[in-house]
Amino acid sequence: MSLTKEFMLIFVFLGSFTPFCCGAPTAVRGEILHFIGDPDKRAENYQYWNDGLLVVDKGKILDLGDAENLLNKYPNIHITQYPDSLIMPGFIDTHVHYPQVEMIAAFGEQLLEWLNRYTFPTESKYSDMEYARCGARFFLSELLRNGTTTALVFGTVHKTSVDAFFEQAEALNMRMIAGKVLMDRNARKDLLDTPKSAYADSKELIMRWHKKGRLLYAITPRFAFTSSAEQLAMAGKLAQEYNDVFIHTHLSENIDEVALVKSLFPARKGYLDVYHHAGLVRERSVFAHGVQLTDKEFKTLAEADAAISFCPTSNLFLGSGLFNLPKAEQYGVHVGIGSDVGAGTSLSTFRSLNEAYKIMQLQKKKLSPFKAFYLATLGGARSLHLDNFIGNFEKDKEADFIVIDLKATPLIDYRLRNSSTLFDRLFALMMLADDRAIKATYIAGKLTRPFEGPDGLIYTNQCHQNNLEQTTSVGIKLNNNN
Ligand code: GUN
Ligand code: ZN
Repeated sequence: MSLTKEFMLIFVFLGSFTPFCCGAPTAVRGEILHFIGDPDKRAENYQYWNDGLLVVDKGKILDLGDAENLLNKYPNIHITQYPDSLIMPGFIDTHVHYPQVEMIAAFGEQLLEWLNRYTFPTESKYSDMEYARCGARFFLSELLRNGTTTALVFGTVHKTSVDAFFEQAEALNMRMIAGKVLMDRNARKDLLDTPKSAYADSKELIMRWHKKGRLLYAITPRFAFTSSAEQLAMAGKLAQEYNDVFIHTHLSENIDEVALVKSLFPARKGYLDVYHHAGLVRERSVFAHGVQLTDKEFKTLAEADAAISFCPTSNLFLGSGLFNLPKAEQYGVHVGIGSDVGAGTSLSTFRSLNEAYKIMQLQKKKLSPFKAFYLATLGGARSLHLDNFIGNFEKDKEADFIVIDLKATPLIDYRLRNSSTLFDRLFALMMLADDRAIKATYIAGKLTRPFEGPDGLIYTNQCHQNNLEQTTSVGIKLNNNN
C-alpha cells in the first residue's frame, strides 16, 4: 500500500471514532476533576464531581457541573458514560524530542556522551521526510495513548523534521508547539546549520506553520554548547521579529555542561546570561531542566515571566541531578512537567509525576498529588502562556481531555478499593498508573483513541516496520522478530 493511501485510510479510520464534533452539543459523564488554580496557593483551587457532566460544543467546553442538575438544561444531549473512570484535562508535556523516541532507554552515559553516542546519530535520519513522517506519526500516536494532548517539541536541525511533525499534528488537530533545532558547532557536520541558514529556515517555518490551526512555532536553539554567540543573536533577532512565537532550549542540566558553557562564553555572567544577552529570555521562553541554576538565575527567570520544564525521568536517567521545585516556586518561576524523551524514560505523565515525587523526597520535600496533577495540566498551560486555551474545563476552552481507567490494572483496582479520599486516590494513580490507565483521549471534543482497527493493528504499524528494518543508532540490528 502506498504511504499516501495509508495516510488516507488512517484519517478515514480515525473519523469513524468521532461521535463528538461539529453538530449539536454532546457530553461525557463520570467522575470529573480539574484545577482552577495552584492547589498549593489555595486548597480549593480544584473542582470535583463524583457524578459530573462535561458538555462540549464545536470542539470547546460549553458547560460543566453535577450531572443530575445539568441534565435538566440539556435534556436531549448525547452522553457517553464513563463508569469507574476519572475525566481530567489532557496532560501537557512541556519538553520532549520526537525524533528521540526510537532511541529511548540508551544505556550508560551522561548528557554530553549520551548526545554524541546515541542522540546525534539518531537525529541525522530526520533529514528524510518520509522517515520523519513515520517518526512523527508514531510519536503523536504514543502521546494520545498516554493522554498527552499538548506538547512543546524539539525536531532536529532539518526543516523536514518540523514539516513532517506539523503535517501529522495538523491532521490530528492537536495543539502542538515545535521548532527546528539550531546548532552550528560542537556536533557532527551533517547536523550543523549556520546562523544565516538557521534564521532563514526558522523564519520560513514560522510563516508556514505558526498559528496554522492549533499549531504554534518555537525558536529552538539546542543549547549554548552547540550554538555560537552569533547564532544565538540571530535567534534573538528572530524572537524580536516574531514576539508571539515560543523560545525553547536546554539550560543548566548537567555540571560538566555548565562548566563548558562558562568556558565558551567567558564574558557572560553565567549560563542563563548567555541566553539573556541574546534576547532569548522572555515570556514564552521555556528552558528544560534548570537543575544547576543559581538563586540569581531563578530570579531572572521569574522577572522575565519565563518557564522551566521540570523533567524528572530524564534528570534521574542521565544522572543530572535533583531539580529544586520549591526554590523555583519561591521565586515565582512558572514550572511545567516535561518527559524529555529520549533522555526521559517514559511518555507517560503518570511516570513523570511518580519520579517527581521521589526527587522531592530525596530533598526532604513533599509533592502532593493535587500539585502534581495541577502541574501536568493547568500549571503546564500557564507555563506555556496557553491557559486561555487549554489546561482546564473553563467555558470556551478547547475540549482536550482524557478518561482515566480506575480499574486499569488489578493492582490499581485493588489499591483504590482501599482508598477513601480524593487525595489518596490521586496519589495512588500518580504512583501506579501509566499508559494502560488512559481509556480515551479527546482532542477538541473528538475521541481520537483507541487506534486499534478491526484487525487489532495500531495505525502506526506500517511505519514502525519500516523503521525496524534499519540498523538503529542504539547499535543493534533489529528485525521483525525482535
Ligand atoms: N541538551 C542538549 N541537547 C539535549 C537533548 O537532546 N536532551 C537533553 N536531555 N539535554 C540536551
Ligand atoms: Zn531535552
